[in-house]
Amino acid sequence: MHAMEPSCNMAWTVAAMGKWKREVIVMMLLLLISTTIAKEVRKAKGGRHRKRHSATGGQAIINGTSSNSSEAYCLSWRMAVEANNMRGWRTIPTECWRHVQGYMVGGQYYRDINLIIDQIYGYLDGVTPLGDGFDAWIFDVDDTCLSNLYYYRAKRFGCDPYNPTEFKTWASKGESPAIPAVLDLFNKLIQVGFKVILLTGRDQETLGEATVDNLLNQGFVGYERLIMRSPEYRGQSAVMYKSEIRRQIMEQGYRIWGNVGDQWSDLQGNFSGDRTFKFPNPMYFVP
Ligand SMILES: *[C@@H]1O[C@H](CO)[C@@H](O)[C@H](O)[C@H]1NC(C)=O
Ligand SMILES: *[C@@H]1O[C@H](CO)[C@@H](O)[C@H](O)[C@H]1NC(C)=O
Ligand SMILES: [Mg+2]
Repeated sequence: MHAMEPSCNMAWTVAAMGKWKREVIVMMLLLLISTTIAKEVRKAKGGRHRKRHSATGGQAIINGTSSNSSEAYCLSWRMAVEANNMRGWRTIPTECWRHVQGYMVGGQYYRDINLIIDQIYGYLDGVTPLGDGFDAWIFDVDDTCLSNLYYYRAKRFGCDPYNPTEFKTWASKGESPAIPAVLDLFNKLIQVGFKVILLTGRDQETLGEATVDNLLNQGFVGYERLIMRSPEYRGQSAVMYKSEIRRQIMEQGYRIWGNVGDQWSDLQGNFSGDRTFKFPNPMYFVP
C-alpha cells in the first residue's frame, strides 16, 4: 500500500499537469509573440536611434567648421596618417583638399608644432648633456626646419602626386622659409652646447648649394653638419639611409639626444635617438 502511494500521487500529478500544460503552453505562446513583437519594434527604433546618436555624437565633438561628413572623414584620415596607421599613400584624398588647407594655413599646424616644441623644451630641462662636444641633436630639413608650404599650396596640399622634377625646381630656388619656432629651438640647442646635425634626403649633387644657401638665408647658422644624400645612397628608403647615417654618427662617438622630423621615416630604423619628436605633415608621405 505504502508502495502504491507514490504511483497514485504521480497519476494525479500527471493528470493535473495535463490541464496545466495547455494553459502554460498558451501563456508561453502569448509571451513569445509579445516579446518578438517588442523586439522587432525595439530593433526598428534602435536602428534609427543608433544612426541619429552617432551623427549627433560626431557633431558634438567636431562642431563648428567640421559638421559635414567629409570634414569628419578628413579628420579621421589625418589622424590615421599622423599616427602612422596609414602608410605608402601617394596623394591626399581629393575631398580632403580644403580640410588639409584649413589645417596647414589656418593656424592649427603651427599650434601643433609649437606644442611639440614645448615638449622638447620640457625634455631638455630634464637632461644633462655631457658637454664634451659629442652631444648631438638631429633635425630633418624639409618641413622640419624649412617649410615647403608655398610649394604644396600649388599642389593642392598634396592632392597632386609628388613630382620630383618640380620639387627640385622649387628647392633649387632656396626660398623655403624657416619654421620660426624651430629656428628658435635650433639656436637654443646650439647655445646650450648641442651639436646640431641636419640630416636630409635631399640630393647632395643637385640641391647641395641651394640647401646651404636656403638654411643660411633663413638664419640656420652654426650647425655642426649638413648631411645630404650622396650618390651611394640614391634610391634607398629614407629609413635605411637615415639609419645608416645615424649609425656613422654614433660610431664617431656622438650621443643622439633628440631627433626631430616630419616623417616617420626620419625617426624609424636604428639609432633613432634617445627621444624622437614627430612633426605633423598631412601633405605627403616619404617611405
Ligand atoms: C554647434 O554649434 C552651433 C553654433 O555654432 C550651436 O548652435 C549648436 O548647438 C552646436 N551643436 C552641438 C551639438 O554642440
Ligand atoms: C638595423 O640594424 C639591423 C642589425 O644590424 C639591420 O639588420 C637592419 O637592417 C637595420 N635597419 C635599418 C633600417 O637600417
Ligand atoms: Mg621632412
